[in-house]
Amino acid sequence: MKRFLLLIATIALPVALMAQKAARIAQGPYVQACSETEFTVVWLTDVDAISWVEVAPDDGTHFYNVERPKYYQTIFGRRPIGRLHSVRVTGLEPGTKYRYRIFQKAVLLNEGRVRVLFSDPYGSDILSHKPFCVKTLDAGKSTTRFAVGNDFHEHGDVLRKLFDRETVNADNYDFVLFNGDMVTSIDSEDYLMEHVITPSVEAFAPDMPLFVARGNHENRGQWGTHYMEYFPSSTGTPYYTFRSGPAFCIVLDGGEDKPDSDIRNLELMVHDPYREQVAEWLKEVVASEEFRSAPVKIVFLHMPPSPKGWHGGAEIDRLYTPILNEAGIDVMFSAHIHRYKLWKAGDKATGCNFPILCNPNQTRMDVDVDTKTITCNIYDKEGKLVHTDKFPVH
Ligand SMILES: [Fe+2]
Repeated sequence: MKRFLLLIATIALPVALMAQKAARIAQGPYVQACSETEFTVVWLTDVDAISWVEVAPDDGTHFYNVERPKYYQTIFGRRPIGRLHSVRVTGLEPGTKYRYRIFQKAVLLNEGRVRVLFSDPYGSDILSHKPFCVKTLDAGKSTTRFAVGNDFHEHGDVLRKLFDRETVNADNYDFVLFNGDMVTSIDSEDYLMEHVITPSVEAFAPDMPLFVARGNHENRGQWGTHYMEYFPSSTGTPYYTFRSGPAFCIVLDGGEDKPDSDIRNLELMVHDPYREQVAEWLKEVVASEEFRSAPVKIVFLHMPPSPKGWHGGAEIDRLYTPILNEAGIDVMFSAHIHRYKLWKAGDKATGCNFPILCNPNQTRMDVDVDTKTITCNIYDKEGKLVHTDKFPVH
C-alpha cells in the first residue's frame, strides 16, 4: 500500500506542476538606461520566474534566422527569481536599431538548494507581435530630438494620448524623459503600473529609451523605496548622465520640497545629507572630459532652484547652483510648479547664469537640439502647440 501511495505521489506531483500555467507578461517591456552601447529591458510577470532577452540586429533577417544571443538578469553571477525582470543588454553599436524578445519560465517548485523546477518558456510571441525594436543613442550625431513630460500626477490617460507611438517613435525622437511627479506617491507596485508604466508601455515604451528624473512626490508612499527597481540607471542612483547627439544630459535629484523635520515628511526623509551627496557627484561630472568636451550641456531637475522659496529649492540653490554656474550649462529643464515659466539667464529669482524652463503639468515638450540652438515646443493635453522657446548654445 505504501509503495502504491508513493507511486501515486511521484506521478501526481509532476502532473500537478505541469497543470500550472506558464509565466505571462503582466506588464512591459520598457527600455531603461539606454546608452550608445547598451540598454536595459524591464518587465513584470504574473508569477515568479527566471527570464532572459534575445537580441537581433535590424538587418532584414527573420528573427528565427539564427539562434540569437541571450542576455540574463544576474546578481553577481546568480540569476534571481521574481516577478520584476531587469535585463541589461550590452556590447551594442551606437545609433543602431536592435530587435528584441523577452522570455520567462515560471517557477513551479522551489525547494531551495535541493531543486527548482521551471515551466516551459513563454514570452513575446513574434507570430502575433513583431519583435520590439530600440535604437541606441549616438554621440556622433550633430542633432538630437526628445520629448519631455512631467507632473502627470496619475493622469495616465493624458500621458497615453500625448506620447502615443504614432507621434513618439524612433523615426521622430531619440528618447523620452519624465521629469518627475508622474504620480503623487508610490503607494504600491500596482499603483505605479496603473498610472505610469502601463500608459507608457501602451504608448511608446517598449520601443523607445525612457529616462526618468525623480520628483519630490516619488519619494512618498509605502512603495517609494523600490523606485530604482523599476527605473534602473547607469549609476544605480536617481542621478546620472547620458549623451545623445551633441547633448550631454545631467539628470539631478532634488529630494523633497519641505525641511526633513516637517511633520508631513513623517520622520522618513533625510534629504539634506542626500543633496550634499548629489552635489559631490555633480562636481565630478562637470570636471569630466566627457562633459567638458560636449557641445551642448543640458540639466534635468524636477524642482527648480529657488533661493528664497521652499527648503528643497533653497538647498538646490545652495548646493547645486554654484557648481552649475561654473559649468557652462545651456539650459535647465524643470517642472514642479505645474505652469509654464521661463527664467532667463541671470534672473535673480533663480541665481543661475543659464535659463530655466519649467514645463507645465500634463504636457509634452518636444526639444530639438543642434550645436547652435535648443528649440522647445510645448503641447497641451489636447495636443495644441502653446509655447515655443529657443535657447542659444554657448
Ligand atoms: Fe513636484
